[in-house]
Amino acid sequence: MSTFSYIKGLGFHVPERIYTNTDLEKIVDTNDEWITSRTGIKQRHVVEDETCHDLAYEASLKALQEAGMEAEELTHVIVATFTGDMPIPSTSCLLMERLGIKNIAAMDLSAACSGFVYAVEVARALINLDPTAKILVCGAEVVTSRVNWEDRSTCVLFGDGAGAAVMVAGTGDESGKILDTLVRADGNHGMNLTVKGGGSAYSYKAGDTVGVENFVEMQGREIYKHAVRSMTSISNEILKRQGLSIDDVDVLLPHQANMRIIEAVGKKLGILREKVFANVDKYGNTSAASIPIALADARESGFIKDGDLVLLATFGGGLTWGSSLIQF
Ligand code: UT7
Repeated sequence: MSTFSYIKGLGFHVPERIYTNTDLEKIVDTNDEWITSRTGIKQRHVVEDETCHDLAYEASLKALQEAGMEAEELTHVIVATFTGDMPIPSTSCLLMERLGIKNIAAMDLSAACSGFVYAVEVARALINLDPTAKILVCGAEVVTSRVNWEDRSTCVLFGDGAGAAVMVAGTGDESGKILDTLVRADGNHGMNLTVKGGGSAYSYKAGDTVGVENFVEMQGREIYKHAVRSMTSISNEILKRQGLSIDDVDVLLPHQANMRIIEAVGKKLGILREKVFANVDKYGNTSAASIPIALADARESGFIKDGDLVLLATFGGGLTWGSSLIQF
């Protein structure tokens, strides 16, 4: 019998403070009508003094609790983020320390908004290498720390939060079985979505001030087209590889960047709108945290039921994209 990876527990956490669209009207020249009609976002959660690993910690506690596991049982911690506490130590090391565990593997993974699905793929590979592995996979972001609050074309889009999953090996048909995962990238279009500051190509010199290169810069229209195209094509590819059709899918759970993108992908795939999960209205785009927050939220709210086949589709900077099929 072949070994599969399973999601045993899910959890998410967002900071308490909320910025509504109306709140943003006081910061930049924008309005609720524009943000709602172009993106579907109504509000986003924004940290006060929490860091990335603080958010990851709260989400991880919930995921461990749902899995019925203690942190001490973990063998690996992976955190997908582009807004970690600091470059060194990694956010995964800070998270481990906070969880009170040591002497296991920890690493951060950089694949922008696709980071969680990439991390799931890495965890699957690790579980295949060693079926006794028990892996905490987090997507955690303080995107608002990398947002230019003077740029209305980007600052209205993002929010902070974290989602976590505990992954283990198994063989049967229990809930959370990951049937397949696919991840892809194309560096050719990468400069359409950047955070350059802090990188060696933009190294700090004495006296430099913080410039726009330290924040998210995006060619929104270009990214929009790539997002719809790649999430649709990778979803079709993973379904075909598994001998399934879109009619077999109970829930489509896409990256939560923009309601128009979410609906366009659903339409192109030919799935009923009521099977498409969206919570972008409440959280905005939380980058690598978006998919695990949506998964945990959809599970908690009963949108994903026992027995449901869930199709994940993600897209982000790099450019990167990916998909996963999970049987709950
Ligand atoms: O997670 C990573 C992946 N990221 C994404 O998936 C984001 C993909 N892109 C998008 O979601 C959309 O392109 C946006 C929501 C970012 C923008 O929507 P759009 O329909 O492509 O608008 P646009 O950028 O073409 O801007 C249209 C107009 C412009 O004014 P003019 O030039 O037509 O006079 C902008 O200046 O809207 C203006 N605008 C705004 N107006 C009010 C841009 N931002 C705002 C704003 N409030 N916040």
